[in-house]
Amino acid sequence: MILTVENLSVDFATGGGLLHAVRDVSFTLDAGEVVGIVGESGSGKSVTAQSILRIIPANGRIAAGDIRFRDRSVLALDGEELRRFRGREVAMIFQEPGRSFDPIYSIGKSLAETIRAHQPDLGEDEIRERSIRLLEEVHVTNPERRLENFPHQFSGGLLQRIMIAHALASDPTVLIADEPTTALDVTIQAGIVDLLLELRRRRNVAILFITHNLALISSFADRLVVMYGGLVMEEGRTVDVLRSPRHPYTAGLLASLVPFGAHHSQQSLFILSGAPPNPMAPEPGCPFAPRCPLAKPGCREAIPEIRTDGGSRVRCIVEGPK
Ligand SMILES: Nc1ncnc2c1ncn2[C@@H]1O[C@H](COP(=O)(O)OP(=O)(O)OP(=O)(O)O)[C@@H](O)[C@H]1O
Ligand code: SF4
Ligand SMILES: [Mg+2]
Repeated sequence: MILTVENLSVDFATGGGLLHAVRDVSFTLDAGEVVGIVGESGSGKSVTAQSILRIIPANGRIAAGDIRFRDRSVLALDGEELRRFRGREVAMIFQEPGRSFDPIYSIGKSLAETIRAHQPDLGEDEIRERSIRLLEEVHVTNPERRLENFPHQFSGGLLQRIMIAHALASDPTVLIADEPTTALDVTIQAGIVDLLLELRRRRNVAILFITHNLALISSFADRLVVMYGGLVMEEGRTVDVLRSPRHPYTAGLLASLVPFGAHHSQQSLFILSGAPPNPMAPEPGCPFAPRCPLAKPGCREAIPEIRTDGGSRVRCIVEGPK
């Protein structure tokens, strides 16, 4: 196992009190594996990813749990070790590639800076050569010429590929992709997913892919982590989760799916009735209870423990397929 998130809880101090963004989240990522974290807006996906890299906003704190990378606690790293972990071991790509680039730098200049940060001994020619190779690897055509261009001269899909090239500059073991395709149209999304899978095959890089799009992620992830209200509701092999969901929330998501690639939709739409929980004032017990067709009085007494059901892990007191 390369990455293990163990009973992670993250709180934010806000004007209205303490907000419990992530609660008791556990999952693992193995070498070369693709794990999808899926859930509605506000379910704690990004905060989980930020915790792994220790980049949560200043008003947040890891209140409990641990994050382990190859048997070392990431929470114990500091200074140079933390910098190396962030750069060399785990790299992250974000949703809006346009915003991640400085508009006054050419693509070549910003890529050169990233490469230099990881390999300070390389000369100018070697850096240029490496930049070209990275752009080729993410299938940007005419890389020599493209290095001279500025961010506004690229489409969103190409900028996302260039952001992936930046992430690859350090030869990371793990790539965290937080909604990397959400701002892109459906054909471009598919191209980025194909690229990530190619990188996994070629480099054996493990990928943690965060999305609210269950149709998209279930088409290529090895395992799924379904989050709701800051909690993992279900975790298991994609085939098991799709074939036999154990949590009513997962079952609801699957029932509302529009297949990925369907012409009329870019996203799988969550059309479950009701609203997600208010993280400032969580209801006692199971956070899904107000929307759950199987809810019974016992569900509101305590947050269900996560337990094994079929081949999956599930946080629900009702056993069996849903
Ligand atoms: N700096 C912050 N201060 C206060 N609350 C925050 C902060 N950052 C995130 N949160 C809250 O933490 C919760 C989880 O947020 P997170 O960004 O992880 O959601 P998400 O699942 O990534 O949603 P989305 O799909 O919209 O990106 C939300 O209720 C959010 O409002
Ligand atoms: S614990 Fe109860 S309310 Fe929560 S998902 Fe299971 S059946 Fe529904
Ligand atoms: Mg997010």
